[in-house]
Amino acid sequence: MKIGVTGGAGFIGSHLVDSLIRDGHRVAVIDNLSMGRLNQVNDKAAFYLMDIRHDEIGKIFDLESFDVIYHLAAQMDIRVSVSDPVYDARVNILGLLNLLQHCVRTRVRRFIFASTGGAIYGEQEAFPCDESHPTRPVSPYGIAKLTSEKYLYYYLKEFGLEHVILRYANVYGPRQNPRGEAGVVAIFAHKLLSGENPVINGDGRQTRDYVFVDDVVNANLSALHYSECETFNIGTGNETDVNELFKQINHLTGNQFSENHGPAKPGEQKRSAIDGSKASLKMQWTPRTDLAQGLKKTIDYFKSWKP
Ligand SMILES: NC(=O)c1ccc[n+]([C@@H]2O[C@H](COP(=O)([O-])OP(=O)(O)OC[C@H]3O[C@@H](n4cnc5c(N)ncnc54)[C@H](O)[C@@H]3O)[C@@H](O)[C@H]2O)c1
Repeated sequence: MKIGVTGGAGFIGSHLVDSLIRDGHRVAVIDNLSMGRLNQVNDKAAFYLMDIRHDEIGKIFDLESFDVIYHLAAQMDIRVSVSDPVYDARVNILGLLNLLQHCVRTRVRRFIFASTGGAIYGEQEAFPCDESHPTRPVSPYGIAKLTSEKYLYYYLKEFGLEHVILRYANVYGPRQNPRGEAGVVAIFAHKLLSGENPVINGDGRQTRDYVFVDDVVNANLSALHYSECETFNIGTGNETDVNELFKQINHLTGNQFSENHGPAKPGEQKRSAIDGSKASLKMQWTPRTDLAQGLKKTIDYFKSWKP
Protein backbone atom coordinates (compact mmCIF):
# COMPACT_ATOMS: atom_id res chain seq x y z
CA MET A 1 0.00 0.00 0.00
CA LYS A 2 1.01 3.64 -0.44
CA ILE A 3 0.98 5.16 3.01
CA GLY A 4 1.56 8.70 4.22
CA VAL A 5 2.67 9.26 7.81
CA THR A 6 2.42 12.79 9.18
CA GLY A 7 4.77 13.27 12.11
CA GLY A 8 6.83 10.33 10.81
CA ALA A 9 10.07 11.94 12.03
CA GLY A 10 8.79 12.03 15.60
CA PHE A 11 8.89 9.55 18.45
CA ILE A 12 5.94 7.24 17.68
CA GLY A 13 5.72 8.06 13.96
CA SER A 14 9.32 7.05 13.21
CA HIS A 15 8.81 3.62 14.82
CA LEU A 16 5.58 3.20 12.87
CA VAL A 17 7.35 4.05 9.60
CA ASP A 18 10.04 1.41 10.32
CA SER A 19 7.36 -1.26 10.83
CA LEU A 20 5.34 -0.28 7.75
CA ILE A 21 8.48 -0.48 5.61
CA ARG A 22 9.40 -3.80 7.15
CA ASP A 23 5.92 -5.03 6.15
CA GLY A 24 6.56 -4.05 2.52
CA HIS A 25 4.55 -0.81 2.23
CA ARG A 26 5.62 2.28 0.32
CA VAL A 27 5.85 5.06 2.87
CA ALA A 28 6.14 8.84 2.63
CA VAL A 29 6.78 10.94 5.74
CA ILE A 30 5.37 14.46 6.05
CA ASP A 31 6.96 16.39 8.92
CA ASN A 32 8.04 19.98 9.55
CA LEU A 33 10.79 18.81 11.96
CA SER A 34 9.52 21.16 14.68
CA MET A 35 10.03 18.26 17.11
CA GLY A 36 11.03 15.32 14.93
CA ARG A 37 14.52 14.42 13.78
CA LEU A 38 15.58 13.66 10.24
CA ASN A 39 18.01 10.97 11.41
CA GLN A 40 15.05 9.02 12.81
CA VAL A 41 13.38 8.76 9.41
CA ASN A 42 13.85 5.38 7.77
CA ASP A 43 16.01 5.86 4.67
CA LYS A 44 13.62 3.73 2.60
CA ALA A 45 10.83 6.26 3.18
CA ALA A 46 10.28 9.35 1.03
CA PHE A 47 10.61 12.47 3.18
CA TYR A 48 8.73 15.75 2.70
CA LEU A 49 9.71 18.69 4.86
CA MET A 50 6.25 20.20 5.05
CA ASP A 51 3.88 21.75 7.54
CA ILE A 52 0.45 20.11 7.65
CA ARG A 53 -1.13 23.58 7.63
CA HIS A 54 0.32 24.58 4.27
CA ASP A 55 -1.58 24.50 0.98
CA GLU A 56 1.39 23.04 -0.92
CA ILE A 57 0.78 19.76 0.89
CA GLY A 58 -1.75 19.07 -1.89
CA LYS A 59 1.14 18.53 -4.31
CA ILE A 60 2.39 15.66 -2.16
CA PHE A 61 -1.06 14.06 -2.21
CA ASP A 62 -1.19 14.42 -6.02
CA LEU A 63 2.25 12.92 -6.44
CA GLU A 64 1.89 10.01 -4.02
CA SER A 65 -1.79 8.93 -4.47
CA PHE A 66 -1.94 7.61 -0.91
CA ASP A 67 -4.21 4.69 0.01
CA VAL A 68 -3.91 5.43 3.72
CA ILE A 69 -2.84 8.35 5.89
CA TYR A 70 -1.60 7.91 9.46
CA HIS A 71 -1.94 11.30 11.12
CA LEU A 72 0.45 11.73 14.04
CA ALA A 73 1.77 15.26 13.50
CA ALA A 74 0.51 17.47 16.30
CA GLN A 75 1.19 20.29 18.68
CA MET A 76 1.17 17.96 21.67
CA ASP A 77 2.38 20.05 24.58
CA ILE A 78 -0.60 20.57 26.88
CA ARG A 79 0.99 23.63 28.49
CA VAL A 80 1.58 25.27 25.09
CA SER A 81 -2.08 24.59 24.27
CA VAL A 82 -3.09 26.38 27.48
CA SER A 83 -0.83 29.39 26.89
CA ASP A 84 -1.59 29.64 23.15
CA PRO A 85 -4.88 27.92 22.27
CA VAL A 86 -5.03 29.69 18.90
CA TYR A 87 -1.71 28.17 17.81
CA ASP A 88 -2.81 24.77 19.13
CA ALA A 89 -6.02 24.92 17.10
CA ARG A 90 -4.16 26.08 13.98
CA VAL A 91 -1.97 22.98 14.05
CA ASN A 92 -4.30 20.42 15.57
CA ILE A 93 -7.63 21.43 14.03
CA LEU A 94 -6.89 23.46 10.89
CA GLY A 95 -3.94 21.19 10.04
CA LEU A 96 -6.23 18.18 10.29
CA LEU A 97 -8.87 19.82 8.07
CA ASN A 98 -6.24 20.64 5.46
CA LEU A 99 -5.25 16.96 5.35
CA LEU A 100 -8.85 15.73 5.26
CA GLN A 101 -9.71 17.98 2.31
CA HIS A 102 -6.79 16.57 0.32
CA CYS A 103 -7.72 13.02 1.37
CA VAL A 104 -11.19 13.50 -0.10
CA ARG A 105 -9.87 15.21 -3.23
CA THR A 106 -7.31 12.47 -3.97
CA ARG A 107 -9.56 9.59 -2.82
CA VAL A 108 -7.53 8.36 0.14
CA ARG A 109 -9.36 5.33 1.48
CA ARG A 110 -8.52 5.33 5.16
CA PHE A 111 -7.35 7.80 7.82
CA ILE A 112 -5.82 6.51 11.05
CA PHE A 113 -5.70 9.12 13.76
CA ALA A 114 -3.49 9.43 16.86
CA SER A 115 -5.87 10.67 19.54
CA THR A 116 -5.37 10.72 23.29
CA GLY A 117 -6.76 8.52 26.02
CA GLY A 118 -5.55 10.93 28.68
CA ALA A 119 -6.56 14.52 27.91
CA ILE A 120 -9.75 13.56 26.08
CA TYR A 121 -11.51 12.12 29.16
CA GLY A 122 -10.49 14.77 31.71
CA GLU A 123 -10.69 13.67 35.35
CA GLN A 124 -12.02 10.10 35.15
CA GLU A 125 -14.95 8.67 37.08
CA ALA A 126 -13.90 5.04 36.56
CA PHE A 127 -10.48 3.35 36.52
CA PRO A 128 -9.53 2.13 34.00
CA CYS A 129 -12.15 3.78 31.78
CA ASP A 130 -13.44 2.45 28.49
CA GLU A 131 -14.30 4.38 25.33
CA SER A 132 -17.85 5.12 26.51
CA HIS A 133 -16.59 7.25 29.42
CA PRO A 134 -17.71 10.91 29.13
CA THR A 135 -15.21 13.13 27.33
CA ARG A 136 -14.59 16.30 29.33
CA PRO A 137 -11.21 17.62 28.22
CA VAL A 138 -9.82 20.41 30.37
CA SER A 139 -7.14 21.63 27.96
CA PRO A 140 -7.24 23.10 24.45
CA TYR A 141 -5.10 20.12 23.36
CA GLY A 142 -7.76 17.66 24.60
CA ILE A 143 -10.52 19.74 23.03
CA ALA A 144 -8.66 19.74 19.71
CA LYS A 145 -8.31 15.94 19.77
CA LEU A 146 -12.01 15.52 20.57
CA THR A 147 -12.96 18.01 17.84
CA SER A 148 -10.74 16.08 15.41
CA GLU A 149 -12.56 12.86 16.23
CA LYS A 150 -15.88 14.57 15.47
CA TYR A 151 -14.58 15.88 12.15
CA LEU A 152 -13.55 12.33 11.25
CA TYR A 153 -17.10 11.17 11.81
CA TYR A 154 -18.36 14.02 9.60
CA TYR A 155 -15.90 13.14 6.78
CA LEU A 156 -17.01 9.52 6.99
CA LYS A 157 -20.71 10.38 6.73
CA GLU A 158 -20.31 13.11 4.13
CA PHE A 159 -17.48 11.75 1.96
CA GLY A 160 -17.07 8.07 2.90
CA LEU A 161 -13.51 8.58 4.22
CA GLU A 162 -12.92 5.59 6.51
CA HIS A 163 -11.14 6.11 9.81
CA VAL A 164 -9.81 4.37 12.87
CA ILE A 165 -9.23 6.48 15.98
CA LEU A 166 -6.61 5.27 18.45
CA ARG A 167 -6.69 6.95 21.85
CA TYR A 168 -3.19 6.36 23.20
CA ALA A 169 -2.38 6.27 26.90
CA ASN A 170 1.05 7.69 27.98
CA VAL A 171 3.45 6.33 25.41
CA TYR A 172 7.10 5.83 26.33
CA GLY A 173 10.17 4.19 24.78
CA PRO A 174 13.26 4.80 22.66
CA ARG A 175 13.37 8.05 20.63
CA GLN A 176 11.07 10.00 22.94
CA ASN A 177 12.44 13.51 23.36
CA PRO A 178 13.91 13.89 26.87
CA ARG A 179 14.24 17.64 26.43
CA GLY A 180 10.51 18.35 26.28
CA GLU A 181 8.11 19.05 29.12
CA ALA A 182 6.18 15.81 28.54
CA GLY A 183 7.54 12.28 28.46
CA VAL A 184 8.44 11.70 32.08
CA VAL A 185 10.11 8.33 31.40
CA ALA A 186 12.49 9.88 28.84
CA ILE A 187 13.21 12.85 31.12
CA PHE A 188 13.91 10.66 34.17
CA ALA A 189 15.98 8.12 32.21
CA HIS A 190 18.12 10.80 30.56
CA LYS A 191 18.67 12.77 33.78
CA LEU A 192 19.40 9.75 35.95
CA LEU A 193 21.82 8.33 33.37
CA SER A 194 23.62 11.70 33.48
CA GLY A 195 23.85 11.40 37.28
CA GLU A 196 21.25 14.14 37.87
CA ASN A 197 18.35 13.81 40.26
CA PRO A 198 15.16 14.83 38.40
CA VAL A 199 12.43 16.95 39.95
CA ILE A 200 9.14 15.19 40.67
CA ASN A 201 6.28 17.65 40.15
CA GLY A 202 4.11 17.93 43.26
CA ASP A 203 3.65 14.94 45.55
CA GLY A 204 4.31 12.46 42.73
CA ARG A 205 1.10 10.58 43.41
CA GLN A 206 -0.40 11.48 40.04
CA THR A 207 -0.93 8.27 38.07
CA ARG A 208 -0.70 7.47 34.37
CA ASP A 209 -1.12 4.42 32.18
CA TYR A 210 2.28 3.83 30.56
CA VAL A 211 2.19 1.94 27.27
CA PHE A 212 5.35 0.94 25.40
CA VAL A 213 5.86 2.41 21.93
CA ASP A 214 6.14 -0.99 20.15
CA ASP A 215 2.68 -1.88 21.45
CA VAL A 216 1.29 1.40 20.11
CA VAL A 217 2.88 0.68 16.73
CA ASN A 218 1.25 -2.77 16.72
CA ALA A 219 -2.14 -1.17 17.38
CA ASN A 220 -1.56 1.09 14.38
CA LEU A 221 -0.67 -1.91 12.21
CA SER A 222 -3.85 -3.72 13.32
CA ALA A 223 -5.89 -0.62 12.44
CA LEU A 224 -4.64 -0.78 8.86
CA HIS A 225 -6.64 -3.93 8.16
CA TYR A 226 -9.50 -3.43 10.59
CA SER A 227 -12.69 -3.40 8.55
CA GLU A 228 -14.85 -0.90 10.46
CA CYS A 229 -14.61 2.71 11.60
CA GLU A 230 -14.09 2.65 15.34
CA THR A 231 -12.47 4.33 18.30
CA PHE A 232 -10.11 2.31 20.49
CA ASN A 233 -8.31 2.95 23.75
CA ILE A 234 -4.69 1.86 23.44
CA GLY A 235 -3.52 1.42 27.01
CA THR A 236 -2.61 -1.23 29.56
CA GLY A 237 -5.26 -0.45 32.18
CA ASN A 238 -2.49 -0.20 34.81
CA GLU A 239 -1.92 2.92 36.89
CA THR A 240 1.61 3.85 37.94
CA ASP A 241 2.41 6.93 39.95
CA VAL A 242 5.43 9.16 39.32
CA ASN A 243 7.12 8.17 42.59
CA GLU A 244 7.03 4.52 41.56
CA LEU A 245 8.37 5.36 38.12
CA PHE A 246 11.20 7.33 39.72
CA LYS A 247 11.96 4.42 42.07
CA GLN A 248 12.24 1.93 39.22
CA ILE A 249 14.34 4.14 36.92
CA ASN A 250 16.55 5.22 39.84
CA HIS A 251 17.24 1.55 40.54
CA LEU A 252 17.69 0.49 36.90
CA THR A 253 20.22 3.29 36.28
CA GLY A 254 22.23 2.26 39.35
CA ASN A 255 21.42 5.43 41.33
CA GLN A 256 20.35 5.80 44.93
CA PHE A 257 18.84 9.29 44.88
CA SER A 258 16.00 10.22 47.21
CA GLU A 259 12.84 11.72 45.79
CA ASN A 260 13.28 15.40 44.90
CA HIS A 261 9.84 17.07 44.89
CA GLY A 262 9.10 20.44 43.28
CA PRO A 263 5.91 22.49 42.93
CA ALA A 264 2.93 20.81 41.31
CA LYS A 265 2.16 21.82 37.73
CA PRO A 266 -1.26 23.44 37.47
CA GLY A 267 -3.89 21.71 35.37
CA GLU A 268 -2.37 18.22 35.61
CA GLN A 269 -4.87 15.37 35.83
CA LYS A 270 -4.63 13.41 39.09
CA ARG A 271 -5.24 9.93 37.75
CA SER A 272 -5.46 8.33 34.33
CA ALA A 273 -5.76 4.74 33.13
CA ILE A 274 -7.63 3.38 30.13
CA ASP A 275 -9.16 0.03 29.35
CA GLY A 276 -7.93 -1.54 26.09
CA SER A 277 -10.39 -4.48 26.11
CA LYS A 278 -12.26 -3.28 23.03
CA ALA A 279 -9.04 -3.23 20.96
CA SER A 280 -8.22 -6.63 22.32
CA LEU A 281 -11.64 -8.06 21.45
CA LYS A 282 -12.09 -6.48 18.03
CA MET A 283 -8.54 -5.99 16.69
CA GLN A 284 -6.81 -8.76 18.68
CA TRP A 285 -4.46 -6.14 20.07
CA THR A 286 -2.88 -6.58 23.48
CA PRO A 287 0.06 -4.77 25.05
CA ARG A 288 2.96 -7.24 25.22
CA THR A 289 5.67 -5.22 26.98
CA ASP A 290 5.29 -4.76 30.71
CA LEU A 291 6.63 -1.69 32.47
CA ALA A 292 9.82 -3.36 33.75
CA GLN A 293 10.79 -4.62 30.28
CA GLY A 294 9.84 -1.34 28.62
CA LEU A 295 11.83 0.76 31.10
CA LYS A 296 14.88 -1.41 30.57
CA LYS A 297 14.69 -1.03 26.77
CA THR A 298 14.20 2.72 27.12
CA ILE A 299 17.15 3.13 29.49
CA ASP A 300 19.38 1.05 27.17
CA TYR A 301 18.47 3.42 24.35
CA PHE A 302 19.26 6.54 26.37
CA LYS A 303 22.69 5.20 27.33
CA SER A 304 23.92 6.23 23.88
CA TRP A 305 21.54 9.12 23.23
CA LYS A 306 22.99 12.34 21.81
CA PRO A 307 21.18 15.71 21.73
N1 LIG B 1 3.52 10.47 23.34
C1 LIG B 1 2.38 10.24 23.97
O1 LIG B 1 2.35 9.85 25.15
C2 LIG B 1 1.07 10.46 23.27
C3 LIG B 1 -0.13 10.18 23.96
C4 LIG B 1 -1.35 10.39 23.33
C5 LIG B 1 -1.38 10.83 22.01
N2 LIG B 1 -0.21 11.11 21.36
C6 LIG B 1 -0.28 11.60 19.97
O2 LIG B 1 0.58 10.84 19.16
C7 LIG B 1 1.10 11.64 18.11
C8 LIG B 1 2.61 11.50 18.03
O3 LIG B 1 3.17 11.92 19.27
P1 LIG B 1 4.73 11.77 19.60
O4 LIG B 1 4.84 11.47 21.04
O5 LIG B 1 5.38 10.86 18.61
O6 LIG B 1 5.22 13.26 19.40
P2 LIG B 1 6.44 13.90 18.61
O7 LIG B 1 6.49 15.35 18.95
O8 LIG B 1 7.68 13.10 18.78
O9 LIG B 1 5.95 13.72 17.09
C9 LIG B 1 5.13 14.66 16.45
C10 LIG B 1 5.77 14.95 15.09
O10 LIG B 1 4.93 15.87 14.39
C11 LIG B 1 5.75 16.86 13.80
N3 LIG B 1 4.93 18.08 13.65
C12 LIG B 1 4.46 18.87 14.66
N4 LIG B 1 3.75 19.89 14.15
C13 LIG B 1 3.76 19.72 12.80
C14 LIG B 1 3.20 20.45 11.71
N5 LIG B 1 2.51 21.58 11.92
N6 LIG B 1 3.40 20.00 10.45
C15 LIG B 1 4.14 18.87 10.23
N7 LIG B 1 4.70 18.15 11.20
C16 LIG B 1 4.51 18.57 12.47
C17 LIG B 1 6.93 17.04 14.73
O11 LIG B 1 8.08 17.57 14.09
C18 LIG B 1 7.15 15.60 15.21
O12 LIG B 1 8.06 14.91 14.38
C19 LIG B 1 0.59 13.06 18.38
O13 LIG B 1 -0.55 13.29 17.57
C20 LIG B 1 0.18 13.03 19.84
O14 LIG B 1 -0.84 13.96 20.12
C21 LIG B 1 1.01 10.93 21.95
